Amino acid sequence: MDEEEFRRCGKEMVDYIADYLSTIRTRPVYPDVLPGYLRPMIPAEPPRTPETFRDVMEDVERVIMPGVTHWSSPHFHAYFPGANSYPALLGDMLSGAIGCIGFSWAASPACTELETVMLDWLARTLQLPSHFLACGDSGEGGSGGGVIQGTASEATLVAMLAARNRAMRLGQDPQGSPGESGILARLVAYTSEQAHSSVERAAMFAAVRIRKLPTDGRCSLRGDALSGAVATDRAAGLVPFFVSSSLSREREGLWMHIDAAYAGSAFICPSSDPSSTESR
Ligand SMILES: Cc1ncc(COP(=O)(O)O)c(C=O)c1O
Repeated sequence: MDEEEFRRCGKEMVDYIADYLSTIRTRPVYPDVLPGYLRPMIPAEPPRTPETFRDVMEDVERVIMPGVTHWSSPHFHAYFPGANSYPALLGDMLSGAIGCIGFSWAASPACTELETVMLDWLARTLQLPSHFLACGDSGEGGSGGGVIQGTASEATLVAMLAARNRAMRLGQDPQGSPGESGILARLVAYTSEQAHSSVERAAMFAAVRIRKLPTDGRCSLRGDALSGAVATDRAAGLVPFFVSSSLSREREGLWMHIDAAYAGSAFICPSSDPSSTESR
């Protein structure tokens, strides 16, 4: 594909996407296919010669679309909405074109700097305390700042590993156990019995115990259930170090990870602001 063809196909692709989204309600939301439907529809071997853009797009309609769950359909009521919008689609296109890998500041300064500022914007939009910011109100360097993770599961794993490292490094070990492995064997993480399975999976990867605590009649983990479990575990010589929840308060000196994957964006709504008239 040369530049001229890219210009032509790119415009066709934008039209295809706009047509797809504007007619999406006419497609069945959930695909009527069986496991393994796709393999017989395409060659077993990768192609040795390129195909035309038209042929590829015909395959998209013939092979892919029948197996797509249309998350953007107004008839889709499962899980949560897909995170796409026309501006986001354009942003993805530009990002694909720039194609930088932001593994360090020098690898692409704008990439790192934009991420840092955008996450400060997010923290401000959610009205998080200023210690979550990379840059405080008077422009000074804050102690916080965020990084974007690929998925919510990855974010939980990274947070748990960071908390585990902190607990081991600071020697938060009431028994004064010799060596880090002694502490590792006694670390305990907590979450609610209603939490997403990724929290338990993170504990498996981090090789730490996890307790799934009971919830109240509204499926909420209450502070007294957590405090009780922490006290019992401390009395047994274990080292509570981490709790994952979706809303919380500060106590017990544990690393508090808020898994905001499902409902966190609701905190952007004015009605979540306690000072807002809409919340009264
Ligand atoms: C509360 C919560 N946590 C974690 C996840 C996992 O998200 P991901 O698939 O991005 O790892 C989900 C996904 O629905 C979720 O709702």
